[in-house]
Amino acid sequence: MTEAALKAFVAKVELRFGPAFGPGPADLRDLGEDLLRLCRKLDFNQLDLPEAGPGQEFLHHLAVSPLGGPSLYLVSEGPGVTSPPHEHQTWAVIVGIRGCEINTRFERQDVGSRQVVAVESVSVGPGQLLLLSPEQIHATAVLGERATFHLHLYGKALHTLPPFKSRCFDSVSAA
Ligand SMILES: [Fe+2]
Repeated sequence: MTEAALKAFVAKVELRFGPAFGPGPADLRDLGEDLLRLCRKLDFNQLDLPEAGPGQEFLHHLAVSPLGGPSLYLVSEGPGVTSPPHEHQTWAVIVGIRGCEINTRFERQDVGSRQVVAVESVSVGPGQLLLLSPEQIHATAVLGERATFHLHLYGKALHTLPPFKSRCFDSVSAA
C-alpha cells in the first residue's frame, strides 16, 4: 500500500512535469504539500527498509523514472553524516519521516563563483517539508543520535545528474 501509493504519486507528477519542464514556485509548493499530505496517511514501517548506522548513508530507490524524469528516493543517513554545499540542478521536495536533519542554505559570493556563504539553517524533522529550486545550494547534517528517514523527490532521476563532486561548492565565511 505505502509503496504503491508513493509510486502512483510520482507517476502523476511525471505526467505533469517531465525532465525538461519543471514546476514554478507555486506548483512546487503545491506538489510538496500534496506529498506531505499523502505521507501523513502512510505507514513507512511497511516498506521494511533498513535504517543507516552511524556514519552510513542509504539511498533506497522507491520510484525511479526510466525516462530520467521525476524520481523518488528514501534516504536514510546515520548520526554524524554531513554533506558539503551542493546544488541538484533540478527541483527537489524533501519530506522528513524520522529523525532530524539540519539544512543550511548557501548563496554564491559572486555570480558564477564556486565559493558560497551560509545564509540560514532550518531543521527538517518528521512531517516537515523542504523545497529546493534547481539553483539553490544547500548542505545537510544529521542532528542528534537518531538515523534519518527522509523522502527525496527530484525533478530528474539522480543517475542522470552530473557527478556529485561537480555540483559541490566551497564554503567560506561571510566577509
Ligand atoms: Fe541535496
